[in-house]
Amino acid sequence: MNRHIRLGINIDHVATLRNARGGDTPNVTEAAKVVEESGADLITVHVREDRRHINEKDLGNILDTVNIPVNLEIAANSEMVDIAINYNPKFVCIVPENRKEITTEGGLDVINNFKELKKVLKSITDTEINVSIFIDPDKEQIKAVNDLGISTVEFHTGSYANAFIKNRNIDKEFKKIEENVFFAKEKGINCHAGHGLTFENVAKIAGLPHIIELNIGHFIIADSIFNGLQNSILKMRNIITKASI
Ligand code: PXP
Repeated sequence: MNRHIRLGINIDHVATLRNARGGDTPNVTEAAKVVEESGADLITVHVREDRRHINEKDLGNILDTVNIPVNLEIAANSEMVDIAINYNPKFVCIVPENRKEITTEGGLDVINNFKELKKVLKSITDTEINVSIFIDPDKEQIKAVNDLGISTVEFHTGSYANAFIKNRNIDKEFKKIEENVFFAKEKGINCHAGHGLTFENVAKIAGLPHIIELNIGHFIIADSIFNGLQNSILKMRNIITKASI
């Protein structure tokens, strides 16, 4: 039997659509329930500093309603860390954040923010919450994560996904992720991956032996407009399961 890669479905963009009109349509908690019923392993949400999609009320409603764990993405600052500690999701992923960006455009620079991260993350690493850091596939960043005492990374797959869109440098970008997954594993670091993953590009990543979790949002929510959220998740799950060895 193929190994089970945890699949986190990021439902931020259900909230993006809701916020386009105010009100409560589409309902974010309802989406979280469909994600759970579709056999996904995690609900992933990003509470951004500008609350452009998910807010604390959504987070509380999701935590009160679904039985699968929540993976909360937050920026590395004390306000966000306090929110995470108060709401107590099972997983937290620390991501870089820049208010003007359209999405999380790159991994967190752990090397150049080491001291600040050490200080800000102290309170959360003292809890039961499993903390990961979203980084680019880069050995020096992995070493810095290790030095911080954090045992899980999520590799930013955006450059790989863009290579697919442009049909250029796919192998080069894939190799970068592959090498860094193996390097992280050697250091005893758990590997997650996400960003820009689609039906077309996910199989190569799921085929990497040490990847234990994938987080996928925008593509699934976009595909669900045509095919329904449950069908989109089931199709993604199926591709991942077939590819995982
Ligand atoms: N993982 C992390 C840490 C993210 O911040 C995001 C969203 O930017 C994703 C995964 C999902 O990316 P996408 O929406 O492109 O699938």
